This record gives sequence, structure tokens and C-alpha cells, in this order.
Amino acid sequence: MQMIGKAGKAAAIAAIAALALTACGRADTGSSGSSSGGEAFPKGSAIGVALPQKTSENWVLAEKLFNDDLTAAGYKPDVQFANGGVSEQQNQISAMVTKGDKVIIVGAIDGAQLGTQLKQAKDAGATIIAYDRLLLNTANVDYYVAYDNFKVGVLQGQALLDGMKAKKPTGPYNIELFAGSPDDANAKVFFNGAMSILQPKIDDGTLKVVSGQKSFEQAVTQGWKAENAQRRMDTLLAGTYGSTTLDGVLSPNDTLGRAVITSVKAAGKPIPVVTGQDSEVESVKSIMAGEQYSTINKDTRALVEHAITMVKDIQAGKTPEINDSKSYNNTVKTVPAYLLTPVIVTKDNVKTAYVNDPVLGPITK
Ligand code: BGC
Repeated sequence: MQMIGKAGKAAAIAAIAALALTACGRADTGSSGSSSGGEAFPKGSAIGVALPQKTSENWVLAEKLFNDDLTAAGYKPDVQFANGGVSEQQNQISAMVTKGDKVIIVGAIDGAQLGTQLKQAKDAGATIIAYDRLLLNTANVDYYVAYDNFKVGVLQGQALLDGMKAKKPTGPYNIELFAGSPDDANAKVFFNGAMSILQPKIDDGTLKVVSGQKSFEQAVTQGWKAENAQRRMDTLLAGTYGSTTLDGVLSPNDTLGRAVITSVKAAGKPIPVVTGQDSEVESVKSIMAGEQYSTINKDTRALVEHAITMVKDIQAGKTPEINDSKSYNNTVKTVPAYLLTPVIVTKDNVKTAYVNDPVLGPITK
């Protein structure tokens, strides 16, 4: 009796487990025609991509690439922008769960505000990939794919120093610091990367932040909006740089870098060394014209391609390749990451940096 009971219980558990697997969409459906038994979900499934606001060109390009390349790989892309803000993105992710999207790729507006929706997604059996920006304070994120954000900041900090040194071999140099939007998990990491280079030079007197605004909180630019950076720069110039020369500005991306340059020009001051990121068309032109000093090349095509490689692996029941398992702790877990390498671009290498880029290649020839 005892033995039969145990066996019966085991069979029941196995049956429930099989049902649960099917409900989660994890059973091998064999839709590819193969019976390998390893597929996590059928080929041709819907893949959700939740993108933030269009705060820089990279996001707009990502939308197109995810649509085209997921389709080419045999999936149904479900790509959404959340121009209306956080609650719109929350609703979009909930809708992706309802539609049964098997992988949900998230470029968060605010990585700390999606906990409820990510839990719904995991409970429904979806795999979650944080794209470009980390998802914070949640266990419900499986992978992270991004350019190495700390390295981006390091390159920006070093470029600021190099650019100022090239103009004036010895300091001290007067600088101002700008950071990105505080709701974007990347903004602090970029800033910390840059400050790992700049802080020792502030401490030894080589650099002087004349306004005194040295903290991340003082340097942030809400919503990554150009007008916010421009307004802050206007105020700094009017308040602090009457007869004092501004030698350099740490800008976390191209949109904000151009806003800083616009402000400086409007004030009739010489353009300082200004950093950037994203290789936006107008900034690459500005670098070639000798205005903006640097940008960062983070090829969006490579990032989207890698995210789709992860999707293919997950679909096939394989564990995606990871090259960093220690850097991105989101306060609940350390998220397994695949990090790509950012490249600094200045006037010196602008002609070679984009040879394979279909848009920037022709411009920089
Ligand atoms: C991205 C940057 C971009 C910024 C504003 C960040 O999360 O990593 O490339 O400049 O968002 O859109």
C-alpha cells in the first residue's frame, strides 16, 4: 500500500510538473519540426521589446533593428516605445505578458519602477532581458546586455583631461560636471566611471569645479532633456564664469553635450572641451568641425544583435553566453551580463571609427 501510494504521488507530481511546464510555455512544442526536446518555447513566438522615451538616436535605431532583425530571425516582434512615461511602460509590459510574449527585453525609463510587471512576466514564464539599462530592486531579471557603462564614464573622464591638456599643456583647469537622468540606472554608473578619473585630479588641484557642484545629485539632468542641460549651463555661465575661463565640461551624452555647446555659444564664450556619447550624427559632424571634443561609439547594431542572440539561445533551451557575473548587482541579485566594449572617438580617429557604419561611414569619409 505504502509503495503504491508513493508511486502514485510521484506520478501525480510528475503530471503536475508537466502541466506547469506546458502552462509556462517551457515544454518542447516541436514547432520547429525537430524533436530535440530542448526548446524553451516555439520558434515564431512573440518577443516583447519595451523601449523608453526617445531621449537619444540609439533608441530610435534600436526600434527599427528589433523589428527588422527579430522578424528576420523568425520571431514576432512586439516593440513599444513609452513616450508617455513610466506608467505607459508599465502598461506595455503588462500587455506583453497578457499577449504571451516569451522573452521581454526591457530598456527601462526607470529601472526601479517595473517590479510588479516583471513579476507578472516571470510568473507567466517569460524570460526577462535588461537592455542597455539595468533593472533594479528585483529578482525578476534574467540577463543584462549592454555596453560597459562604467568604462563609458572612464573614457569620458579621460577624454576630458586629454582634450584640455591638448589645448593648454598645464592646469589648473576649470570644469563643470553634467550627469544623465537619475531614474536611468546608467546615469550614476557613467558618472562614477568618469569621477574615477576626475576625482583624483580634483583632489590634487589639477581640476577645479568652479561652481562647486560636484555631486551626482547636483549634476543630474532630469529626463536626459537637452533644455534642462542648456538651462543649467546658462545659469552656471551667468553665475560663475563672468571673467573666468571654462576649460571643460563633462557631458554624459551627445544630446546634452550639444546643449552645453549651444549655451556657451549663446553666451558668446569660447567652446570648452565637451565630451559626449552615442555617436549621434550632429555630434559626429560637430567633432569633425572641431567643436564637440569627443563621443563614444556604442554601435546599436551590435547591441541589438547580441540581445537577439540571447533570445535565440533561450528559445533553443540553451543558456546565453555571459561575460560578466559580478559587476551588475541590482540590490536583489547580481545580474548575469554580456557587456560590449565602448570606443572613444575624437577628431583623431573619427575617420576610421565608423568605416562599417552605414550612416556615419559616408559622413566621416
Ligand atoms: C544610454 C545612453 C543614452 C541615454 C539617453 C542611456 O541609458 O546608455 O546611450 O545616451 O540613455 O538616451
